[in-house]
Amino acid sequence: MARKLTGILKNEGGGEPVAARIEDYERRYGGEAPDGPGARKADYRHFENSYYDLVTDFFEYGWGQSFHFAPRAENESFAASLARHEHHIALRLGLGPGMAAVDLGCGVGGPLIEIARFSGARITGVNNNALQLERAARRSEEAGLGHLADWLHCDFMQVDAPDASFDAAYSIEASCCAPDKEGVYAEAFRLLRPGGRLAVYEYCLTGRFDDADPGHRRLKAGMEHGGSLPDIARPHEVDAAVRNVGFELVEARDLAAEAPPGIPWYQPLAGSGLSFARVRSSAAGRRLTHGSLWLLERLRVVPRGTTRVSGLLNHAASCLAEAGRLGIFTPMYFFLARKPE
Ligand SMILES: C[S@@+](CC[C@H](N)C(=O)[O-])C[C@H]1O[C@@H](n2cnc3c(N)ncnc32)[C@H](O)[C@@H]1O
Repeated sequence: MARKLTGILKNEGGGEPVAARIEDYERRYGGEAPDGPGARKADYRHFENSYYDLVTDFFEYGWGQSFHFAPRAENESFAASLARHEHHIALRLGLGPGMAAVDLGCGVGGPLIEIARFSGARITGVNNNALQLERAARRSEEAGLGHLADWLHCDFMQVDAPDASFDAAYSIEASCCAPDKEGVYAEAFRLLRPGGRLAVYEYCLTGRFDDADPGHRRLKAGMEHGGSLPDIARPHEVDAAVRNVGFELVEARDLAAEAPPGIPWYQPLAGSGLSFARVRSSAAGRRLTHGSLWLLERLRVVPRGTTRVSGLLNHAASCLAEAGRLGIFTPMYFFLARKPE
């Protein structure tokens, strides 16, 4: 564990010191930022990029190479639950050999590699974060799947690919980073051939979220600030945006609400009832990591500012876990949409 921890933020992109970057992130986009979502939406490229440069090592350390949640059955491993969530997308899109798909906001490529291996489809990963994309490309080669994976370093609001160049598109917990839903869904619409399908796991507030409740608002702000989310949407806003850009909405439902009895998506962040293998993401494990980083930062083993990034993520994780427990937020509002022929 110590060896991996000591590597955190050693190779972070950009060049500016970590302490300056986290300071800038907090000042511009923190909960107290004067215009809240305004700055996060207006500067979304900088907002997302500086965040992911800072947090990618933490995500890989505490979670793995698939940066998303999943519902988990009682006797299912964490890794199997993530893969099942990814296979669900592939199945609903009908992906198979000879098809071309695009992954909007592909992270370090965990889901893309799994879906390409599972389906045999050729997939293009889109990401505006160079650090993540470089790791994704390397891993697809290491996995022997380079022939099924292409990588595009660009904004998913403006993808460098011709109209109608894909049979299918998907986005896993990434369109939540878009400054506006219609912008990212319209880009998916443009990229799809007529009859092509889009499948998305979207972040949403549920019907239980009460805007008048200061506790709920505090949790929303914590998730947005610590998760680089401009403004978490509601399901009806998502549905309207999908239809407004021209899609037929085939299906839309909250998979968290209908998950069979088991381990809810937020449990790895909360911590009880977990295997030793998941201890790093739990509340106790995060406290241990935070304390170790504090020491390593003082010993100058990790860059100055690393503990502050850890604090930001810990706060976001607590807010996510609490919002999940209260049922006011879901990271798996699933929709399937079709571009008319
Ligand atoms: C929570 S991560 C999910 C990554 C991946 N889908 C997964 O499940 O592992 C969100 C991803 O969206 C990417 N992203 C955010 N805004 C973006 C934008 N405007 N254009 C392209 N990618 C973006 C981030 O760099 C990050 O890789």
